[in-house]
Amino acid sequence: MTAGRFISFEGIDGAGKSTQHAWLVEHLRARGLAVVATREPGGTPLGEKLRALLLAEPMHLETEALLMFAARREHIEQVIAPALERGEWVVCDRFVDASFAYQGGGRGLDWKKLESLSQWVLGDLQPDLTLIFDAPVEVAQQRLHAATANPDRFEQEQAAFFERVRSAYLRIASENPQRVRLIDATETPANINKVLEKIVATF
Ligand code: TYD
Repeated sequence: MTAGRFISFEGIDGAGKSTQHAWLVEHLRARGLAVVATREPGGTPLGEKLRALLLAEPMHLETEALLMFAARREHIEQVIAPALERGEWVVCDRFVDASFAYQGGGRGLDWKKLESLSQWVLGDLQPDLTLIFDAPVEVAQQRLHAATANPDRFEQEQAAFFERVRSAYLRIASENPQRVRLIDATETPANINKVLEKIVATF
């Protein structure tokens, strides 16, 4: 049995990661791999309920972080760990780095609190590969406004919030060169497909 692989997709809203997530899932399945396509917050029935709250209800920033990790705890238990144990690939649209980038960078929650939550909820589990889709905030905001009729609680944030989220992602990329690949999300979708194809081929 081939070993399962865990890939996460990250980036500021509007960077185009969800399109590429769908593409990679199909690409891997076309190569005969068993792939679990999932997302955060969400991925389980309870997680999707928490997602609906997180995207709509105003709340304290620590409540927000705790609910993100509560959804993640359930997701790991019910979906991610079992799939990896079965030797399948898990391709997840956002994972723990989003908590550091959005709740840490964007909202200003103490990085140490996030590290202890991460240690608690993830233990040793980390993605084998994280793809961070990076684009200037103006570019991402233009795409977002063109594609989104009803922006959620995060999508309604101002440019300065997304600048902080982007900086946090860039920090995560530079601190985790083994795990994280930064993808230039200003490229055309076809060129990004080629980059992803090369990266996963080395797996
Ligand atoms: P997103 O992947 O952008 O969903 P969609 O493409 O359908 O809008 O995720 C929803 C939002 O959740 C996104 O704005 C980032 C936010 N988020 C956090 O703030 N912290 C987290 O830990 C996660 C997983 C997501």
